[in-house]
Amino acid sequence: MASEKAKAATEYLKADPEGVSRAAALLEAGALVAFPTETVYGLGADATDARAVAGIFEAKGRPRFNPLIAHVPDMESAAAIGHLSPLARRLAERFWPGALTLVVPRASDEVSDLVTAGLDTVALRVPAHPVALELLRAVGRPLAAPSANPSGKLSPTTAADVLAGLGGRIAAVLDGGPTEIGLESTILGVEGDTLRLLRPGGIPVEEIEAAAGVAVEHQRHDGPVTAPGQLESHYAPEAHLRLNAAAPEEGEAWLGFGPDPDAATRAVARLSLSPTGNLREAAAALFKTLRTLDSTSSRIAVAPIPETGLGLAINDRLQRAAAPRDG
Ligand code: TXA
Ligand code: MG
Repeated sequence: MASEKAKAATEYLKADPEGVSRAAALLEAGALVAFPTETVYGLGADATDARAVAGIFEAKGRPRFNPLIAHVPDMESAAAIGHLSPLARRLAERFWPGALTLVVPRASDEVSDLVTAGLDTVALRVPAHPVALELLRAVGRPLAAPSANPSGKLSPTTAADVLAGLGGRIAAVLDGGPTEIGLESTILGVEGDTLRLLRPGGIPVEEIEAAAGVAVEHQRHDGPVTAPGQLESHYAPEAHLRLNAAAPEEGEAWLGFGPDPDAATRAVARLSLSPTGNLREAAAALFKTLRTLDSTSSRIAVAPIPETGLGLAINDRLQRAAAPRDG
């Protein structure tokens, strides 16, 4: 199991061809590998593999599933995942590879719902570090990668920083020397002709405005995206959720975790986040399973999820989904 694998010693890989291909093989197998970008070291996982992405939250000890950036080697790969408007393309041509992340409408199901946190937009970036680009080309799939540090700690700018924070919790770190920027990318929301600054970062806004020919709205959404209230407005199931339920009542669908109670067989629909009670499997399945039950039932009873490890993030997301909403 991947979480057991993560307890083994973290492999230290030099950024030579051998190291890059070892890193790529680990990523293809669903393991977590920290790699250098020009901003900070990223904690990479195959963005198309929900279980691998769930591992990121587990390794970082992140209490919530906030959306992650999908890293790709070129604009063509980006366009397969997100809709690049003419304005987005102009910015990408000017700043990619580089420290600019564009949040654009999602164009396909290629990346896991866990990367987008269930939103209908996706954050895309082509990093400028040669080792990151080599790795992305070797893997041939987008890599989800937040900064490679435990949640709440400073972002790592060296392989040693990564090992100090996450050693023993991830499969490997690829050492490409100290990062150039040391500060995360600038995140820009592109909606039609409108640009919104979601997080200030490596590329100054003035440069973006000069290239875009339009003003950037200074609306800070970096914090609020993950703050209470923000995610519900983007993603809320139609169905009513009843959390910590012992069993489904008449007319309810059942969202299970671990062994099902007998009454679950009479539920109007029945799915499990993890029949064996595995939190990582549950995290990986969460958005997809919720969406499926939501399309079949108006009331969903949800089994209790333990408040440990990834369970904190799963419960946080479930509470948001169950919260009363306006209108
Ligand atoms: O420089 C960087 O950007 C580094 C390196 C590793 O590339 N990565 C990084 O990723 O900082 P991360 O996961 O820490 O930042 C992701 C942030 C989220 O906190 C959120 O603010 C924003 O990107 N984000 C991602 N997807 C979004 C979306 N669909 N809508 C709005 N904001 C989004
Ligand atoms: Mg970070």
